[in-house]
Amino acid sequence: MDGRTVLSNAVSGQSVHGRFGGVVPELASRAHVQLIIPVVESALEQAKISLSDLDAVAYTRGPGLLGSLLVGASFGQSMARALGIPAVGIHHLKAHVLAHHIEGVHPEPPDFPYLALTVSGGHTLLLKVHSAERFEILGQTMDDAAGEAFDKAAKIIGLPYPGGPLIDALSEGGDPLAFAFAKPRPEGLNMSFSGLKTSILYTLRPLIAEDPSFLETRRADLAASIQHSIVGVLVDRSVAALRQTGLRTLALSGGVAANRALHAVLKKAVEREGGQLLVPPMAYCTDNAAMIGIAAVVQAERDGLKKTSVALPVRARIPIDEEFQHQ
Ligand code: KG4
Ligand code: ZN
Repeated sequence: MDGRTVLSNAVSGQSVHGRFGGVVPELASRAHVQLIIPVVESALEQAKISLSDLDAVAYTRGPGLLGSLLVGASFGQSMARALGIPAVGIHHLKAHVLAHHIEGVHPEPPDFPYLALTVSGGHTLLLKVHSAERFEILGQTMDDAAGEAFDKAAKIIGLPYPGGPLIDALSEGGDPLAFAFAKPRPEGLNMSFSGLKTSILYTLRPLIAEDPSFLETRRADLAASIQHSIVGVLVDRSVAALRQTGLRTLALSGGVAANRALHAVLKKAVEREGGQLLVPPMAYCTDNAAMIGIAAVVQAERDGLKKTSVALPVRARIPIDEEFQHQ
């Protein structure tokens, strides 16, 4: 980053997980060890700068997989120490939201306060963003994350990991109303997705018993109906949050923001409320380096770089109350 401008956003995907139907933590940390030096080198190369040009190093301090976090934090802190510059530990979910403040992502960054919906493989949060440091939780998932729901449902209908993008693609040729899967509505603005799996399993069991080729012949309808159910919950809660808060801007982020139906239905629903939906380019929605960078820049603009430099330990789980306010 140069101020709020991204100079490079090198990301290294890990194809190793597809074979195992999900992320295997041990394999993820090993892959991090192998990939971190090449990815840092390619980030510097793309940015056309060298190590001596760096003013600070930002790393993710959690939440996430501990082994992977440790690799990033150890590397980032060592690099900063070797260069004699500050190391900045960043909260993963706040970074997802702050991606909206990267220069050029929107013609103007959203004005505070605004609503944010962060939907990824690990998290589903509906936030009121009061400022770059004050985030208030309005709603969150009580169990599975939205991306996890996509992935688990996809697995049930025989799709490989990660199933979210495949459900999205298959849905195009399917009928979203072919099957009525669970759309639970827990209290307030909270969400729940774990009932979806059970609902799909109960629906499918007799149908597969009757016709063993059922999954194959109806896969598109199943995908579209699963997507309809997950998107329905997210849209319902977002609209309720807009009404409850009177806010008019909804800023979407996280890997599930790539879902075309979510995009289309949410945009329409938000506009019907007189609001606007902001979606960063996909490279800034899924996990990426630039969002960690912008979060560090925003922190440094506020506190100065020196004060920002605390070698915070990484944590797999960060109790949500420590970082976010509740209503
Ligand atoms: O934010 P992300 O890249 O990683 C974290 O989990 O932090 O999100 C990954 C999640 C996965 O669950 C994946 O299936 C889901 O985002 N996803 C999608 C789509 N693209 C990615 N879900 C539905 N439709 C998509 N097009
Ligand atoms: Zn993420």
